[in-house]
Amino acid sequence: TDRTLVLVKPDGVARGLVGEVVSRLEAKGLRLVAAELRTLTREVAEEHYGEHREKPFFGSLVEFITGGPLLALVVEGPRAVEAFRALAGATDPVKAAPGTIRGDFALEVQSNIVHGSDSAESAAREIGLFFPDLAA
Ligand code: GTP
Ligand code: MG
Repeated sequence: TDRTLVLVKPDGVARGLVGEVVSRLEAKGLRLVAAELRTLTREVAEEHYGEHREKPFFGSLVEFITGGPLLALVVEGPRAVEAFRALAGATDPVKAAPGTIRGDFALEVQSNIVHGSDSAESAAREIGLFFPDLAA
């Protein structure tokens, strides 16, 4: 089985969508391995989103993701990375299909409720960053 890092981003926590996200991934058959509510430091946020460092929205993204508590989860199951990305929907919530988390609950590309690792390599890196005790 595979593992992935899921975040309920600060917008999702502030809007009371933690239960909704957790219940959708549990209903799908994914299993929780770790969970922690925390507010990211700028350093961890910049490391987590390092691939976007040169993007015009990087500063705004770091402000957003550090702007309040988020829920960090490690989730496990067959093809967990792909399975959670399917539940989350497209990055732009207006394009995300209804029935997905972003498609059902968001309108703006930055405040799109959840993060899910985009590959096995990203998952290993991100799990190591958020939960060093679980590093493979
Ligand atoms: P994550 O799971 O959060 O990594 O989303 P993703 O993999 O679907 O998208 P990507 O990695 O390309 O972008 C990371 C995050 O940056 C997105 O989820 C948004 O929160 C934000 N983002 C992406 N594109 C834009 C943009 O054009 N403008 C702004 N303001 N934010 C963006
Ligand atoms: Mg991404």
